[in-house]
Amino acid sequence: MDKQEELNKLREEIIADTTLPLREGATNLVFGKGNPQAKILFVGEAAGRQEDLQGLPFVGAAGKNLDKLLSAVGLSLDDVYIANILKYRPPENRNPTSEEIRTHTPYLIKQIKIIKPKVICSLGNYATKFFLAGCNPDGMDKQLGITQVHGKVKIIQIDDMTITLIPLFHPAAIIYNQNLIIEWEKDLKIVKKEVENHKSTS
Ligand code: URA
Repeated sequence: MDKQEELNKLREEIIADTTLPLREGATNLVFGKGNPQAKILFVGEAAGRQEDLQGLPFVGAAGKNLDKLLSAVGLSLDDVYIANILKYRPPENRNPTSEEIRTHTPYLIKQIKIIKPKVICSLGNYATKFFLAGCNPDGMDKQLGITQVHGKVKIIQIDDMTITLIPLFHPAAIIYNQNLIIEWEKDLKIVKKEVENHKSTS
């Protein structure tokens, strides 16, 4: 089975999971988009309204900023895969609960094991704390917030995979806080450098 087929199978598995929290109120599963062969994975928090309607991550306002980020570092959707911590939209875009993170992230881990990325860019607090906690939702509370760790590259281990983690501000935070744009642009340079390293080692 190739990666796309494995992802399709996983998608069906999630759809069939009738106990998964948030499923009832959602229009669509928001599974992922991009190239399953990509070495770079972006992980956001959860779908908003547009994502829920279209069944695709980052297609609304935050998605426009993510598109700009990608093109600023010379990447397109062909070079990356994009997924979220939660697979369904929380009502009114509220923050994910611990229970939702605990029940949804095993699916994210399965996605990661299929894609086998070399670099993960975690977008915002939830994705960043999840990876910094060693993918253990119970350890997320003890992690530093994105304001302290953004742009600080860290090597993490997920199963037998050694992955470069680059925590970034969430693209939606940039919309509401123009001051973060300066930080965001500095962090993009770090993403660009890592991307180039991985292109040359591939
Ligand atoms: N914000 C996210 O974290 N993910 C999306 O898919 C859209 C907005």
